[in-house]
Amino acid sequence: MEDKFLIQGGTSLTGDIQISGSKNASLPILAATLLTPDRCLIYGVPRLADIRIMIQMLSGLGAQISMQGHQVAVQARELQITEELNQHARKMRASFLLMGPLLARHGKACLALPGGCAIGKRPVDLHLKGLAALGAKITIEKGYVRATARRLTGSDIYLEFPSVGATENLMMAATGARGTTTLLNAAAEPEIVDLACFLKKLGAKITGAGTRVVKIEGSRSLHGAAHTVIPDRIEAGTYMVAAVATGGRVRLLKVIPAHLRSVIAKLRKTGAEIEKGRDELLVAATCKSTPLQIRTSPYPGFPTDLQPQFAALLTTVTGTSRIVETVFEERFLYTEELRRMGASIEVSGPKALIRGVERLYPAQVKVPDLRAGAALVIAALKAWGETEINCVHHLDRGYEGIEEKLRGLGARIRRVTEQAANL
Ligand code: EPZ
Repeated sequence: MEDKFLIQGGTSLTGDIQISGSKNASLPILAATLLTPDRCLIYGVPRLADIRIMIQMLSGLGAQISMQGHQVAVQARELQITEELNQHARKMRASFLLMGPLLARHGKACLALPGGCAIGKRPVDLHLKGLAALGAKITIEKGYVRATARRLTGSDIYLEFPSVGATENLMMAATGARGTTTLLNAAAEPEIVDLACFLKKLGAKITGAGTRVVKIEGSRSLHGAAHTVIPDRIEAGTYMVAAVATGGRVRLLKVIPAHLRSVIAKLRKTGAEIEKGRDELLVAATCKSTPLQIRTSPYPGFPTDLQPQFAALLTTVTGTSRIVETVFEERFLYTEELRRMGASIEVSGPKALIRGVERLYPAQVKVPDLRAGAALVIAALKAWGETEINCVHHLDRGYEGIEEKLRGLGARIRRVTEQAANL
């Protein structure tokens, strides 16, 4: 069944919104629970489609796992590798994060090679080069990656690009290696720091997480732990942009302002007023709005996962804004859909030029990927009239209760579940 949103645009978002736990911290942390036979409790896990897939995969590997509310209780006492694992693996590329823990705990793994998606080819060569440097034997056949390692051995690993997933996979694998592993040019995202914090609670010895050089001392065994994941900075950034784009005033609760420095700077630059609290942010649009120059880059640079949302905001900012996407090679697919709503955007390779127009118009649009979907929701909230957004299952992967949260801020949004046409 294909769900769609009907959004009546033209109202300003106002009020308080509670931010959920981070999807991109929860996924590697859930994978990391395979590293110990003991019980782990993970709090603040968002109820999302991707989390359900990860839970299904851990269960398929023999873990006892259950989710009540936002808490996941999991214990991987014994592992069993079955082909069934891969029917889920193909649904979500983050399933590749099981590779490191399986090699560290079990000495072998067979996972479907993650496919590309709407934002790029998404190779895993950096993951595989790093695992081979730790001594894993890796073969790729018929779309599967088979890896074996009697015992991983610590090594220095230089990442050509500070890949988030490769850093996470290698950190987890290195906890089970003999000796020390140093990751050079590692990713430094808050989700990496949160994973390292969890691994240290399990007993791993890790220093440097959050910098470009991360050191991991391998150890024979890790014990269970409890952990609360960090708030989702991308969900928070999305609602901050929506507040400004609709001329609203929104207070975000349960955020970590320090994770949003580049986003706060850009929103202030375009004219918004932002007040920081200890764990909250007040975002208010003003009558000022200035075009922006945005260049995405690995943390602490401007996050690629908020590039589409900012583009939606900038479509009606007088003047010319420019976005340069340096992290993914295909992250402007959504501009086609924004043009259907009257936006004036020219894309050439990694650059998008956005000329501000008077207003956006309602249209029928289709979501190509998760964050593009967020951009289309923001555009629909701005457009005068009713916009129909199709394929919103992409949004259900990354935004917990999005229509309830938006309705709570005064948005006129409703979900329509279409019976599949071919029924
Ligand atoms: C993580 O993806 C996030 N996903 C992405 O969020 C996010 O956009 C991305 O990091 C960058 O911040 C999760 O955490 C589950 P990368 P990941 O490895 O790990 C290239 C969302 O919307 N690369 O840092 O896959 C790759 O092609 C998602 O929540 C290689 O070339 O990102 C890309 O161009 C979308 N070889 C760049 O690096 C590799 O082996 C960044 O990828 C790995 C990556």
